[in-house]
Amino acid sequence: MKKVLVLTGGGDCPGLNAVIRAVAKRARKEKNWEIFGSIEAFNGVLNEPQEIVRLTSSRTKGIHVKGGTILKTTNKSNPIKFPVTQKDGTVKFEDRSDELVKRLKGFDAVINIGGDGSQKISKVLFDKGIPIIGVPKTIDNDLSATDMTFGFQTAVQIASDAFDKLVTTAESHHRVMIMEVMGRDAGWIALHTAIAGGAEICLIPEIPYDINKLVKKIESRYKKGRGFVNIVIAEGAKPKEGTVTAAAGEKGSEHVRLGGVAYQLSKQLKDAGCRAEIRETVLGHVQRGGTPVAFDRILATLFGVKAMELAINGEFGKMVAYKNNSITYVSFEEATRQQHLVKKSSYLVQAAKGLGITFGD
Ligand code: F6P
Repeated sequence: MKKVLVLTGGGDCPGLNAVIRAVAKRARKEKNWEIFGSIEAFNGVLNEPQEIVRLTSSRTKGIHVKGGTILKTTNKSNPIKFPVTQKDGTVKFEDRSDELVKRLKGFDAVINIGGDGSQKISKVLFDKGIPIIGVPKTIDNDLSATDMTFGFQTAVQIASDAFDKLVTTAESHHRVMIMEVMGRDAGWIALHTAIAGGAEICLIPEIPYDINKLVKKIESRYKKGRGFVNIVIAEGAKPKEGTVTAAAGEKGSEHVRLGGVAYQLSKQLKDAGCRAEIRETVLGHVQRGGTPVAFDRILATLFGVKAMELAINGEFGKMVAYKNNSITYVSFEEATRQQHLVKKSSYLVQAAKGLGITFGD
């Protein structure tokens, strides 16, 4: 019997379970594969005792409709830069990739479901001889090698539903509502939500804003103190003069944690003379939870089937991808070469501007 190991790494995302189920179902069909899952990304392999579970059909049945990941995940245990807390409380990073490679030797295939950081790990392991395949995931949709990642559509739906609710209360109270969504480097969730919801202002990391232009836009929407404005802002958005709000740098975490830019914007607007009443909503992790929408379930399922088929055919060192309406694959180099960011010249931004949405540029 051959053995395949599946794992999920980085932030969770609706659709992860659908990938796990699809890998397991496709492998089972072959009759000569045993399917295993590593708990909490590669920690399950590195931990003593190991936490590797057999993915039986009773473990995977029906999970495609569930948010999160049955295998658990972490964004604080990169095996190449593994955080080790010292006696004095400081954190030092160790390269545990050789140890991991030794421990993975018994597997005929490893399927690593994760974002940019996870696929960089996949590349290092592949270069060290591990038969590994990547599956892209992120609600941010910021991977350039795939036209779409699963989880993104669900996040946009959740954000749009929340936005719709804020519109009616903004209108009732003549208020400016600021809704902060995820997107540390890429403004895809904000941009899609702004168009879906009909925002007046959309602020994204790729287009730094001029606060005075935003005040002008807001003023133009008010007559005798009456009017309302709905703003969507990505957590990584920043003013032309200034930096992004960093909430907390967590020990061992790969990224500085963002959040709170809505409050920063609120203060900037008031300081710049905005007279309207302002309220802030930080949507946060609600965007990453719950049942994946049908599109994400389908994309995740197609990715899972394709990843297992690559394993069956012995084609390793690849990440599955969605391109031109078809499921394909790319090399790990291509997968991690650059981020997929919103371009000012893109049709989406131009159409949004055509609708009157202000970006503050
Ligand atoms: O990378 C996806 C993402 O949703 C980012 O937009 C956000 O900054 C980050 O995850 C938050 O991750 P966590 O709070 O789980 O560390």
